[in-house]
Amino acid sequence: MTVRPAGQKAPVIAVDGPSGVGKGDVSQFLASSLGWCIMDSGALYRILAYKALEIGVRTDDVSRLCELAADLEVSFAIDGDALQVIYEGADIGDAIRRENVGVAASQLAVWPEVRRRVVRAQRRQRRSPGLVADGRDMGTEVFPDADLKLFLEASVEARANRRFQQLKALGFSVSLGSLLQSISRRDEQDRTRKHSPLIAAQDAIVINTTRMGREAVRSRVLEIVRDKALDRLAQNKPVARASQATHALPSPH
Ligand code: C5P
Repeated sequence: MTVRPAGQKAPVIAVDGPSGVGKGDVSQFLASSLGWCIMDSGALYRILAYKALEIGVRTDDVSRLCELAADLEVSFAIDGDALQVIYEGADIGDAIRRENVGVAASQLAVWPEVRRRVVRAQRRQRRSPGLVADGRDMGTEVFPDADLKLFLEASVEARANRRFQQLKALGFSVSLGSLLQSISRRDEQDRTRKHSPLIAAQDAIVINTTRMGREAVRSRVLEIVRDKALDRLAQNKPVARASQATHALPSPH
């Protein structure tokens, strides 16, 4: 492993983009390949939404939400193809993936005071040997000094279809039509909000995955990581070739 000089912050790869674009899969693939830590930044907004729904706090009750967000401590672990989201000692990954939690997360994420507290918790995830951070504003707001910024795009139809397959695999029954509507609504909310809108950082590398298969996307991101020489910071192991990766992107449509 290459050790960075004392005092230098751990490296970060920011993987941003809209809902259902495959950021999670790319992030897990990169984190496993490099042996780095991973953060699903949306999970922090989702946990907050989950807690708020559970205890009946409205998504516009900013002061109560700020209280709930003040001590948000989460950890992540890759388990096969799944990402465990450990909160208060339990894996709540499946519970926070429900569509109503996603919609509430998007509603409460519009408040700058709430975002400030969540961003603090997100920055605490930066640690050695490096962090792969998956989200909407990782490259623009949370880690503007990221070593590499990727921004993934795909058509709304392709994204709704991927989310549909993911939820089906988890045993949730949802309709494709309602997912399409919900993702479009969420896109609109995320792209047009005043604070930290979903937008590619100026120095981000944009990859449109609509017509790319999983191998192609893996190969492309690994190529970029190698170009940036970030594979030299891999933890104790060579970076996997794309075809050896254990974490798959959803199939192309
Ligand atoms: O990525 P995911 O769909 O899990 O995120 C849920 C919601 O949290 C998003 O729709 C978005 O409104 C919000 N979010 C955000 N900034 C992030 C990650 C998620 O505002 N970095």
